[in-house]
Amino acid sequence: MSLPSVVRDPALPTEVTIYEVGPRDGLQNESVVVPLDAKVEFITRLVAAGLPYVEATSFVHPKWVPQLADAAELVARLPMDRATPLPVLVPNERGLDRALESGVRHIAVFASATETFAQKNLNSTLDTQLDMFEPVMRRALAAGLDVRAYVSMCFGDPWEGEVPIDQVVSVGQSLLELGASQLSIGDTIGVATAGHVRELVGRFVAAGTGVDRLAMHFHDTYGQALANAHAALQVGITTFDASAGGLGGCPYAESATGNLATEDLVWMLGGLGIRHGVDLAALVETSRWMAGVLGKEPASAVVRALS
Ligand code: HMG
Ligand code: MG
Repeated sequence: MSLPSVVRDPALPTEVTIYEVGPRDGLQNESVVVPLDAKVEFITRLVAAGLPYVEATSFVHPKWVPQLADAAELVARLPMDRATPLPVLVPNERGLDRALESGVRHIAVFASATETFAQKNLNSTLDTQLDMFEPVMRRALAAGLDVRAYVSMCFGDPWEGEVPIDQVVSVGQSLLELGASQLSIGDTIGVATAGHVRELVGRFVAAGTGVDRLAMHFHDTYGQALANAHAALQVGITTFDASAGGLGGCPYAESATGNLATEDLVWMLGGLGIRHGVDLAALVETSRWMAGVLGKEPASAVVRALS
């Protein structure tokens, strides 16, 4: 398999953590219902390919995301006590109860940076979403779980347009104060551009949040995800969410398309000599297989180029 020439940029980090979201963010947007066995195989192969985090599913209301209605059955078939964390999304206490019953050790709550998306995605509001997360996070932390927190619509919102950076930082800081170990900054509809990414990260840093507490979650709607990841590397970000094969989207965000493809990120990091621990060949094979399950071509340019 061909690989890029390696030319190190000494200004960039030497190592990056990839947080794989394909089984959750990827599959949640697919209309073809993926059989439970295929989900188990997908996650198992992603772990075997070296992904250090694989977000497995969501304990949301099954009517809201029917694809992930089998969350409890899926988790029962996965080794939740092994070294590779398999986090799950949890929006509320009902979701936490279900996750705890299943033996989950890592959860992620997901907040909105905008009023409209808080209503559409969580049936909540910009303010009251925090009241929903507070008991979830308190109880999860008391049970010894790790809690990650997403903020969505950080770079633009399909209903509200521009999103003030102060509003994003305010929601994010509140989640950190509630005990989130990491904040994932979501470009839910893929409208971010490189300068906006650097500015937003800078504003978090100015507000007292270190880059080590931040992850970037890019969607590739406008083809900017990789450029945005490079911009984030330049300002010291070392955790990136990505989706195998470029699967993904968000069912409640108009015009959302796939996430940043894990293979495209791995190719760029490889060329920059940045360590990531992922076996690209095994990952490409996995994404090609999943594309077959879904009956469609992989969105990832690297998967297509290497096929
Ligand atoms: P709600 O309808 O307001 O819930 O939904 P409720 O509290 O009023 O309860 C209504 C009924 O639902 C009750 O049942 C509850 O028990 C049940 P009843 O008493 O009527 O029989 N219920 C549940 N059942 C199972 N699991 C649960 C649960 N909660 C309540 N967890 C809720 C509120 C938050 C549940 C709903 O809005 C929801 O499920 N939203 C999830 C939406 C979602 O999954 N979106 C995609 C993920 S976010 C994303 O993709 C963005 C991200 O990738 C980052 C980025 O790109 O920006 C993370
Ligand atoms: Mg997403």
